[in-house]
Amino acid sequence: MSFVKVQVHGACGTIVINRPEKRNAISRNMLADLTQALGDLYLERRVRAVILTGAGTTFCAGMDLSEIHASQQENDSHRQWGEDSRQFLELITDLLQFPKPLIAAVAGPAVGGGAGLVLGCDLVIASPTANFGLPEPRRGIVAGIVAPLLAFRVGGGQAARLLLNSETIEAAEAHRIGVYHEIVAEDKNWARSVEVANQCARGAPEALQLTRRLLYETIAGQLETQLAAGAAASATARTTEAANEGISAFLEKREPKWK
Ligand code: ACO
Repeated sequence: MSFVKVQVHGACGTIVINRPEKRNAISRNMLADLTQALGDLYLERRVRAVILTGAGTTFCAGMDLSEIHASQQENDSHRQWGEDSRQFLELITDLLQFPKPLIAAVAGPAVGGGAGLVLGCDLVIASPTANFGLPEPRRGIVAGIVAPLLAFRVGGGQAARLLLNSETIEAAEAHRIGVYHEIVAEDKNWARSVEVANQCARGAPEALQLTRRLLYETIAGQLETQLAAGAAASATARTTEAANEGISAFLEKREPKWK
């Protein structure tokens, strides 16, 4: 598992997204590693709560735009984008259906699909560097899978604001609107996240699992259907000329030119 590190300390498991040189961008291999890591910690009985965090200066820069760009040059790109969306949807579904509390320990930007990983967790401990945003429209694509999760967490109004203006907000603003639950200094983030994980772990495992099901299946009602629709929108958006231009512009470090 080269892109993900898994650690266990007592009742607390940790998944570290570990591709700092590419700002923890989620490649296809990393997606598989994350799914595997969650599966392993699901089965690890002594683990009662799990922390998700990123190595280096960024929590996670979202989906790997180089991989998407490479697919744009291939003949079976539509099939590949459908498959990419399906796999990200599967990861988000695994987060929501995970039986143990999930804590995101966020330092540095959490954007695009990285924002989605944060929103898939129950509690979010962030540092002042933890900017949050959905830059997808500036890449010519759509944050289809993140949109319903964001609306579920912070309501339709704030979701529309963040999804449409592509603004990356500061950690304090993300805290104000309820995406982040606590802001702590970067050097204290880890200790505080472990403390929160251990607080959660004091609850009965069955009660925690049932509470998560209540939250993400009953209260979140239509979320599963909305996520599936979002995955389709996300895959479709990648087939457009705008996606080609937006992603090329990011990789060429220039502003996109829209028609
Ligand atoms: N996909 C592929 N490569 C990436 C990504 C990404 N999402 N994000 C960063 N990288 C790469 C850069 O291309 C660069 O590679 P290089 O060293 O070969 O040139 C390297 O990571 C470092 O990136 P910088 O931009 O120089 O890092 P910086 O610390 O200045 O900024 C930040 C970090 C803010 C996260 C910035 O990289 C960024 O905005 N990334 C793209 C975010 C984005 O658009 N995400 C949405 C993706 S689409 C989706 O998730 C559905």
